[in-house]
Amino acid sequence: MARSTIGIIVNGVTGRMGYRQHLVRSLLAIRDSGGLPLSGGDRLVPEPILVGRSEAKLTEIANRHGLTEWTTDLSAALARPDAAIYFDAQITSHREGAIRAAIDAGKHIYTEKPVAEGLSGAVDLARAADAAGVKHGVVQDKLFLPGLRKLDRLVKSGFFGRILSVRGEFGYWVFEGDWQPAQRPSWNYRAADGGGIVVDMFPHWHYVLEQIFGPVRAVTARVSTHIPRRWDESGQPYEATADDAAYGVFELEGGVIAQINSSWAVRVFRDELVEFQVDGTEGSAVAGLRRCRVQHRAATPKPVWNPDLPATEDFRSQWQEVPDNEEFDNGFKAQWELFLRHVVEDHPYTWDLWAGARGVQLAELGLRSAREGRRLVVPELVA
Ligand SMILES: NC(=O)c1ccc[n+]([C@@H]2O[C@H](COP(=O)([O-])OP(=O)(O)OC[C@H]3O[C@@H](n4cnc5c(N)ncnc54)[C@H](O)[C@@H]3O)[C@@H](O)[C@H]2O)c1
Repeated sequence: MARSTIGIIVNGVTGRMGYRQHLVRSLLAIRDSGGLPLSGGDRLVPEPILVGRSEAKLTEIANRHGLTEWTTDLSAALARPDAAIYFDAQITSHREGAIRAAIDAGKHIYTEKPVAEGLSGAVDLARAADAAGVKHGVVQDKLFLPGLRKLDRLVKSGFFGRILSVRGEFGYWVFEGDWQPAQRPSWNYRAADGGGIVVDMFPHWHYVLEQIFGPVRAVTARVSTHIPRRWDESGQPYEATADDAAYGVFELEGGVIAQINSSWAVRVFRDELVEFQVDGTEGSAVAGLRRCRVQHRAATPKPVWNPDLPATEDFRSQWQEVPDNEEFDNGFKAQWELFLRHVVEDHPYTWDLWAGARGVQLAELGLRSAREGRRLVVPELVA
């Protein structure tokens, strides 16, 4: 068994996603397990090259994990012949330019979503990457979560019969930052910095809907900035200029209606921070990040509407848990492994910059729908 290494530039490694999910839980976890097993029996070991703005933070992360390669100079990292992949987890507004530079440097591209702030930028990146002949991928982590994997399994098994509707509920209370610090970075709430829940979450909803249920053909959205004033990381008040809640209706090919609420101004009375209820003629399911419960047509109770009497049925107890039947790895790591196999062994990989561009397109159309107060058809994107 031979071991080979692959240099990966990790830009934005000091951020929440860059550090925890991508460096620690994915790349370092693959290294710690002895490398990614390849089809011929060899092992591929990722060699992260940390890139960020703060020398102090980079040194601290490198020391903590016994890493030696870091720089605040992206061009220097991109000039390294041993760096095969450029990965981007920076704030959204800095992504497009950095990916463009990485494509020009001939690197394969893997990136957090959204791939760009606008559709034209996202399409330009996809075209440029294709033209340069580099491989490309976009994080679509929700697809790899146990709850959604089980939901996907149900769809593929034909459990639902004809699927009628999908209702998604995502969100939690993000503290304003005055009397308790906010648990999300302040740039998320400033439009000029690439913030906003539509830009953040519609790309996720796009791939979840497209991959599990079918392509999105039309969107109608209403967005709001419910909390107009927040306090940043240093305790300074600022105006929240980006949307913090979005109420969207997505019409899918084949007639399924999906309706998803996304909000950072909602308190959780659910079992998980995101849940999707799917209703079909033969059965229904409720899937979250980890759990998935079903109710079959033959086991469906017959509630009778009578507000004069208290409810006597425990509706939640009438659902059945879908078993895991397999071990689910961290979703980010699972997708990294597929991307690495795509790069070194040419394994098929569908979650590319075009898929990312379709997510950005849905966000852009969602915001336009809200601005113009109308339903918008989603035009097909052609490579
Ligand atoms: N896949 C997911 O589930 C998921 C979840 C959260 C965020 N994200 C995406 O990941 C990206 C990073 O989000 P995050 O929550 O980790 O953000 P974060 O604020 O924690 O990290 C941002 C990173 O960008 C860097 N950066 C570069 N220029 C910056 C600037 N001018 N101001 C501030 N930071 C700057 C920071 O140093 C840091 O490393 C975003 O594009 C976001 O959409 C994805």
